[in-house]
Amino acid sequence: MKGIVLAGGLGSRLYPLTKVTNKHLLPVYNEPMIYYPIKTLVNAGIDEILIVTGGNNAGEFLRLLGNGKDFGLKHLNYTYQEGEGGIAAALSLAEFFADNGKIVVVLGDNIIEKNIRKAVETYQKQKEGARIMLKEVPDPQRFGVPVFEGDHIVRVEEKPAKPKSKYAVIGIYMYDERVFDFIKTLKPSQRGELEITDVNNFYIEEGKMEWDILDGWWTDAGTFESLQYAGNMVAKTGANNI
Ligand code: DAU
Repeated sequence: MKGIVLAGGLGSRLYPLTKVTNKHLLPVYNEPMIYYPIKTLVNAGIDEILIVTGGNNAGEFLRLLGNGKDFGLKHLNYTYQEGEGGIAAALSLAEFFADNGKIVVVLGDNIIEKNIRKAVETYQKQKEGARIMLKEVPDPQRFGVPVFEGDHIVRVEEKPAKPKSKYAVIGIYMYDERVFDFIKTLKPSQRGELEITDVNNFYIEEGKMEWDILDGWWTDAGTFESLQYAGNMVAKTGANNI
């Protein structure tokens, strides 16, 4: 399977830290933010990786990452997202790279303590459809939140004022080749973006969405509070532990 790191967008929630650099190049404790999602993929056995960059400092990704030698890779692929049309818009740029195969997508600001090897192996055996990962969080209203009937997810709600469960859908998604057809039918949400939650709801409506609970801590790093939390957690336990 191939992997995609989405590191586009303008990081406006972290302004002025993002005035002269890309959010995903900011430090999280002792490494640039983008290192963590790349390691998440590499630790899951994925070595064909596309980085979707964006903003004014996209060239710096090449200077930082090169061909991925620091991660034991021989090659890295890059593409560029104009503007910040949303996570699903960034993912649509990966259609050619995915080449009708299954993919694992990681958001560039998502950091995990452990690894997703087991979930990826299970998805490899999954005949079709998609797979998401959940984590119990104290503030689900900040995220995509699954709504359950029994242990079945009936839909995901994006940043609901009144969350119907205590779980977040974390920014690690596994999709089959149909994801790109779904994205083509999306309309921008109220925040003007093509939402990954709408993509997940397509799979759910078709009864083709599976899920796992992530082991170990997870955080995004896209706000001042979560960026600081991420740094503290990495300092404490390390990240991407195998
Ligand atoms: O972190 C998990 C959450 O990520 C999910 O629970 C939500 O369902 C999902 O919508 C997303 O929520 P955020 O609003 O926090 O996403 P954000 O806009 O901060 O974008 C997260 C990453 O996605 C960002 O670091 C890079 C990538 N991205 C985002 C946008 C808007 C792109 O590559 N291009 C974009 O246009």
